[in-house]
Amino acid sequence: RTCVVIDVLRATTTIVHALAAGASQVIPCLEVDEARRVAAEIGSSAVLGGERAGGKIAGFDLGNSPAEYTRSTVGGKTLVFTTTNGTRALARCKAAKQVLIGAFVNFSAICSELAAAESVALICGGTDGEVTREDALLAGAIVVELPRSESTTLNDQAELAADAWRTAVRFLTDRPLGMTLRDSRGGRNLIGIGHENDIDLAAQIDRLDLVPELDLAAWRI
Ligand code: MLT
Repeated sequence: RTCVVIDVLRATTTIVHALAAGASQVIPCLEVDEARRVAAEIGSSAVLGGERAGGKIAGFDLGNSPAEYTRSTVGGKTLVFTTTNGTRALARCKAAKQVLIGAFVNFSAICSELAAAESVALICGGTDGEVTREDALLAGAIVVELPRSESTTLNDQAELAADAWRTAVRFLTDRPLGMTLRDSRGGRNLIGIGHENDIDLAAQIDRLDLVPELDLAAWRI
């Protein structure tokens, strides 16, 4: 299937930001030591980024805040990236036909890309194996947006996510998306570690018009 990996707070939001800022590629790694090794092999054009327990990893150049990924930090560089849940979700997609990186910041770009797909799986990163609201909301927004025909089938998880998004949308004028994302497990975690600003960046729907794709053979985005 065409898979969209979703980790709104913050891995996939950060990957979209990094590429929009001019990173030449992103290499996702499961483990910290693996990331260090890959970066060492690449040499001076590599930037190490990611998080453990939400914080910057010792010896890494950057953490997991989208705002850290600018032209001056990653422009023209290879980002070697590891996060707790997001890069793990990517690693679960090895048998996919195609793997795209989705976030609210590239919502419409992702939906346009999916319009022609025959079969879609929305892979929510969640947190430590638990469903998280912020990822389910984006999945629901995508489900609602995708074109349907009489032969379209959705599983119940997709229907539930779509219901959650429709409910959130009813309140969006009074309650911006960033406020809703604060009321999620990922949101609460970020507030707890002093990264509340990242929630507002992640809530900027359609700020960036690009669709990062994982090259499954070369394992690079
Ligand atoms: C993850 O991949 O687990 C998240 O991006 C965590 C975080 O943002 O700190």
